[in-house]
Amino acid sequence: MKLADLHGDLFAPLEDALARVRPAIELAEVAHVLSVGNGIAEVVGFTDLRADELLTFSGGVMGIASNLSEHRAGVIVLGATSRLRPGDPVRRTGRVVDVPVGAGLIGRVVDALGRPIDGGSPIDAERFLPIEQPSPPIMHRAPVQVPLQTGIKAIDAGIPIGRGQRELILGDRQTGKTAIAVDAILNQRDSGVLSIYCAIGQRASAVVRVIQSLREGGAMERTIVVVASGEDAPGLQFVAPYAATSMAEHFMAAGRDVLIVYDDLTRHARAYRELSLLLRRPPGREAYPGDIFYIHSRLLERATQLREEYGGGSLTALPVVETQAQNISAFIPTNLISITDGQIYLSPGLFEKGHLPAIDIGTSVSRVGGKVQLPAFRAVAGNLRLMYAQFEELETFARFGTQLDAETRRRLTRGLRVREVLKQREHDHVDVPEQIAALLAATEGLFDDLEPGAVAGAERTVCAAVRANLPDLCDRITEGAKLGDEDRAALIKTLREALSGAEAGTGNGNA
Ligand SMILES: Nc1ncnc2c1ncn2[C@@H]1O[C@H](COP(=O)(O)OP(=O)(O)OP(=O)(O)O)[C@@H](O)[C@H]1O
Ligand SMILES: [Mg+2]
Repeated sequence: MKLADLHGDLFAPLEDALARVRPAIELAEVAHVLSVGNGIAEVVGFTDLRADELLTFSGGVMGIASNLSEHRAGVIVLGATSRLRPGDPVRRTGRVVDVPVGAGLIGRVVDALGRPIDGGSPIDAERFLPIEQPSPPIMHRAPVQVPLQTGIKAIDAGIPIGRGQRELILGDRQTGKTAIAVDAILNQRDSGVLSIYCAIGQRASAVVRVIQSLREGGAMERTIVVVASGEDAPGLQFVAPYAATSMAEHFMAAGRDVLIVYDDLTRHARAYRELSLLLRRPPGREAYPGDIFYIHSRLLERATQLREEYGGGSLTALPVVETQAQNISAFIPTNLISITDGQIYLSPGLFEKGHLPAIDIGTSVSRVGGKVQLPAFRAVAGNLRLMYAQFEELETFARFGTQLDAETRRRLTRGLRVREVLKQREHDHVDVPEQIAALLAATEGLFDDLEPGAVAGAERTVCAAVRANLPDLCDRITEGAKLGDEDRAALIKTLREALSGAEAGTGNGNA
């Protein structure tokens, strides 16, 4: 064989292979970390970075470009900054932060970026949505009309919440704020409402307790839990509620009703304050940055009831806020009071006295009001708030040991029985017909002759009797029928019979 032939044999395949090679040129703008702080990093080297663009650091940690100046960018780091070093490369992604959305999230516990933290399989995402989305325009919104039953008598009767409403839950620490939000989620077992519980800045142990309550109550299969705990980076705590809202909006766009709980926005505001101070933004009142009102209003404006033409879904928001020493006129609580459509105020005084749930009915309000209540409530709870407020006033007055006339004594007796009926343990949900039966019995004075301690037992008796003897009426009440005079008379008759039967029963037992 000639040398030339050998040459051809050897090189032809190589030349062929070389001809097929198409070097893929990856264009990436790479900058570097200049300095790292607690939760933020300063980056230099980008030329046309966009506001809120997602960046990736080495090691997979992500960040949001926040403070942009000509050559530098302040970046909110969405992960531990301990692994970042000055000089590390940083890459642009060309997109903003997004999260997986869809049915694959239901029943799961995820972090603020939608990554599973329950030890389960990876999330099966239908699509990805940016965490910040414009709120629905006014013309897409419908009035709030459908009630969202919480199963808590004081709320459903006195401070009703409608689907698409934003109702603030506020109170000092350890007054039962989380308990109310969790009970509202648990009560959605037959309503078709999906729930999202977003924990922000809480202790991990507190979050575990909530997840356990949801599992035990069988609510986890229609709930998503989004967690950015107190140990997580402030950046993750800051983005968590926006991410959770995007997950909810996916279902709302598909016509579902969604309930979202942000627990709590005080800690969210603190995480944002920390980031803003580290980014050297000028501090304002209580050292919060100037846009603190805007970050909460752009979050809560996303809750709404959509019109039928736009899917007809709804997003009801229950933001939680912690007050200090009952100061509801502090900066963050007043901001949130003005953004939301009402507030449920929990009083530490009532909690100490054992009036649980510790809802202060006088200070609480629902600006959507009776319009969203099932019509049957109007007949029994129409003047509940007024009557209860008058009773509380009388009670304060009576403490001075004044001589009381018979009418005042009667109103005090009645008010005390109503208070007993409004007491309710955690996870002890009451359906609407039973709520109406119990409130009617109390406001009509059927419990007046009982000791306050015996009211709870009597309440159980009358509720069972109404369920057993008036099933049709119960169904009609649930379907939204008005309570006519005849229905009312029938109800009162059943209540009286049940009470006298129970009395006779105890009488016989004692004999
Ligand atoms: N209706 C109720 N009946 C009985 N116990 C209740 C009731 N509501 C709340 N509690 C109890 O009160 C305690 C405080 O409740 P919860 O954790 O909901 O309060 P919180 O205001 O969310 O507290 P934190 O400020 O720590 O978040 C819990 O131990 C809870 O079990
Ligand atoms: Mg709590």
